[in-house]
Amino acid sequence: MYNVREKIGIYPGSFDPVTLGHLDIIERSSKMFDKLIVAVLHNKNKKALFSAEERVKMIQSVTSHLCNVEVSSFEGLSVEFARAKGAHVLVRGLRAVTDFEYELQMAQTNRAMCPEIDTIFLTTDLRYAYLSSSIVKEVAYFDGNIEMFVPAAILPLVKEKLMEDNRK
Ligand code: PNS
Repeated sequence: MYNVREKIGIYPGSFDPVTLGHLDIIERSSKMFDKLIVAVLHNKNKKALFSAEERVKMIQSVTSHLCNVEVSSFEGLSVEFARAKGAHVLVRGLRAVTDFEYELQMAQTNRAMCPEIDTIFLTTDLRYAYLSSSIVKEVAYFDGNIEMFVPAAILPLVKEKLMEDNRK
């Protein structure tokens, strides 16, 4: 007998907006599972540049070449969402030692709450080791070039959104 249960991984995050670093983690981790669910946190208490729906759409558009990748938004705890989706692994990217303490704390908390779900860390590709959504927004806000930070399809959306925000 072999186990026919699908291996499902969850990659939770804010993705505000999705960067080339995120996309690299999605592409690499999608090869490890039958299905990878990119889970966009909809946090009512934190102001995001893009709505959860916009972030989901953006990730869908840049992952359309990956047939086992699904994108959803969620509220609440990552482990609860993973449980509801039948996933047993949470994926996170580690850029530098500065990420480690927070990531370890989060992974340990998640494990205490839900021991059947493990967290795995993928080391970020060196090309994107410095990259974050906040850095992208900061550079874009001051009209810098973000071409090397985000997928090409996302570029006009970030510019448009910042212009929209400036008009408010
Ligand atoms: O992209 P981010 O902002 O680094 O992602 C952080 C995220 C969304 C993975 C994390 O904040 C999260 O899982 N939030 C949902 C609430 C939760 O489950 N917290 C973990 C227990 S401390």
